[in-house]
Amino acid sequence: MQLAKGDIMKTIAVVMQKGGAAKSTLSRHGSIILPNSALLDLDPQGTTNAWIEGRIEAGINKPMHLIADLGSADKVADKARASGGVEWLIIDTPPEHDDQRAIRKAIEMADYVVVPTQPSIDDLRELPKTIPLIVEAGKPFAIVITRAKAGSRSLRDTQTATAKLADHFGGVVCPHFMGNRVAYTDAVMSNQTVTEYEPKGQAAAEVAMIWNWVMEQVNV
Ligand SMILES: Nc1ncnc2c1ncn2[C@@H]1O[C@H](COP(=O)(O)OP(=O)(O)OP(=O)(O)O)[C@@H](O)[C@H]1O
Ligand SMILES: [Mg+2]
Repeated sequence: MQLAKGDIMKTIAVVMQKGGAAKSTLSRHGSIILPNSALLDLDPQGTTNAWIEGRIEAGINKPMHLIADLGSADKVADKARASGGVEWLIIDTPPEHDDQRAIRKAIEMADYVVVPTQPSIDDLRELPKTIPLIVEAGKPFAIVITRAKAGSRSLRDTQTATAKLADHFGGVVCPHFMGNRVAYTDAVMSNQTVTEYEPKGQAAAEVAMIWNWVMEQVNV
């Protein structure tokens, strides 16, 4: 599809200060599921950059890959916007160690923020530290539960806790969650997503539901 030139680009930052919440996994899947997407890795570890480079080496081109560091992020995003060809810019971010600059930058650039959280007490303790950064910046956000097991106590407790947090901070919780599935870890071994690796699997179905729901939220 040839897109008209102009400001059609929407930016989604995937942010959670706790490590391992599935920020990179969710960002990469978003970049495959959302149409005309570009992926920007603001994590200095560069794991998503490495994932994309692995795809390029394997001859898998999508998504468009934007190289930027903190200093050049705005310029790179502006160029993508001006091209008229990028509909969705997804920003993967680092966990917080002692430097929140990349996280704050991604939030500042975002139209919408996705906050992945595992069903763990450690993640739930981190959310009230991450979400205020988004609220202070005046950005809308959604919490997405990741790596959960249907029917488990940890999922139920996390659904209750995140609903309260979302209510308190003025956000929403995605009604769909990512299961804890081996398909995600298998797919990434070949620099793929579950969407490509096991397109008819449950993981592909759930992550498509999550991103389609996010798209609807942004477009409201
Ligand atoms: N739904 C899932 N089911 C099973 N494994 C998963 C799932 N989501 C992510 N993982 C695995 O969990 C690990 C951490 O995920 P990921 O790298 O996406 O987290 P992150 O939040 O980006 O971590 P970091 O804070 O270090 O950047 C990876 O090995 C990934 O493959
Ligand atoms: Mg990561």
